[in-house]
Amino acid sequence: AGTTTFTMIKPEAVEAGHIGNILQMINEAGFRIVALKKTQLNKDQAGEFYAVHKERPFYGELVDYMCSGPIVAAILEKDNAVADFRELIGATDPSEAAEGTIRKKYATSKAENAVHGSDSDENAQIEGSFFFSRFEKF
Ligand code: CMP
Repeated sequence: AGTTTFTMIKPEAVEAGHIGNILQMINEAGFRIVALKKTQLNKDQAGEFYAVHKERPFYGELVDYMCSGPIVAAILEKDNAVADFRELIGATDPSEAAEGTIRKKYATSKAENAVHGSDSDENAQIEGSFFFSRFEKF
């Protein structure tokens, strides 16, 4: 119980049919799904979600990619949720991701890396609130 993190299954993983397998890995790692939806971002929404990366060279590519198809957004609960989820997903670059991680299994590149995971408790709250109202969290 206790802390939460936020995740998205990204367009290439949704397109490839990995939603079920990724949610199974999340469940088996001990996370409880607090909120869950399949949706598609428009450019403004993806740009706002990733505003912290606005100055990065890959920002435009990242925004285009994240609205290229549907994604699955979720809030996940577990002790130490942010850090434990980052361990479960593995390194941003799948060639550096550990065996048994979601990105090792399903990511295709550093940009198309299958899943997002919040990097702090504060961002987990901000990102979760971006997608879900208080009536959608149980
Ligand atoms: P995510 O955890 O969603 O947060 C920022 C995202 O930017 C990251 O996953 C990657 O998808 C993307 N990203 C990070 N580094 C690069 C890069 N060098 N080139 C393209 N995309 C990147």
